[in-house]
Amino acid sequence: MSVLRRPPEGLVGTLASRWEALLAQLGAIADAYPDAQLASSMGVEDTLLIHALMQLPCRLEVFLLDTGRLHAETLDLVAVVEQRYGIRIRVMHPDPQAVKDHVDAYGEYAFHESVALRKACCGIRKVEPLRRALAGHSAWITGQRREQAVTRTELPESQWDAAFGLQKFNPLARWTTAEVWGVVHALGVPYHPLHDRGYPSIGCECCTRAVRAGEDLRAGRWWWEQRATRECGLHAAPTVIPRAVPPSIP
Ligand code: ADX
Ligand code: SF4
Repeated sequence: MSVLRRPPEGLVGTLASRWEALLAQLGAIADAYPDAQLASSMGVEDTLLIHALMQLPCRLEVFLLDTGRLHAETLDLVAVVEQRYGIRIRVMHPDPQAVKDHVDAYGEYAFHESVALRKACCGIRKVEPLRRALAGHSAWITGQRREQAVTRTELPESQWDAAFGLQKFNPLARWTTAEVWGVVHALGVPYHPLHDRGYPSIGCECCTRAVRAGEDLRAGRWWWEQRATRECGLHAAPTVIPRAVPPSIP
């Protein structure tokens, strides 16, 4: 598939090569897995990926897991992005009965009580809707990066996702924060307003806070837990079996 090869105005040096490699990688993914979907939390990595996908001749679908506890700004950004690119973002919702049962049994803020209860809430509001979103598809794409967390330092660009039974691509795995923002600003990619208010990582409103100077990128996610448990189950350590690996980022 031919993709835009010439770097757009404003992108030079490393950023231009990163961008070109990203487009080549996404093009190869679209060729090999035409039903691949981008999971978008509407964080900056994901809007960058949406912008990149819009440069491809074919359209891959994008979905958001609306947990029911996202920031209003996140849902507002969905509308902005849909209008800007003329696309629809598929919004997945949790099973209302499962949410009700959990809240009735444990309360609205049970995630503060134990890691188990927090993971149960993430399971209902995020993981089960993700399983439905991915059903019948052969691949998905995420905006994860190695720099984001101690749980992601070995993140591959392509992996077999044994938890959900399909191929998984993390095309920004090796991008630095500076590279992400460099490209976003150079290309005028829309981004989440909370990033300018101290939130480098954005999840549910009640489980995300702004970070302080010197804190790491995900210090504001489930901040009351140990770092090693701060994953919600979307990215349960899948077995790495590279398969039909698209061009790697130089
Ligand atoms: S999380 O697992 O801790 O929530 P994080 O916020 O770092 O993940 O986001 C990593 C990637 O997971 C995102 O780039 C996106 O691909 C996917 N993701 C996270 N949250 C959502 C969501 N609510 N809807 C869709 N995809 C999501
Ligand atoms: Fe529930 Fe918090 Fe997980 Fe959102 S991040 S699904 S509110 S525990």
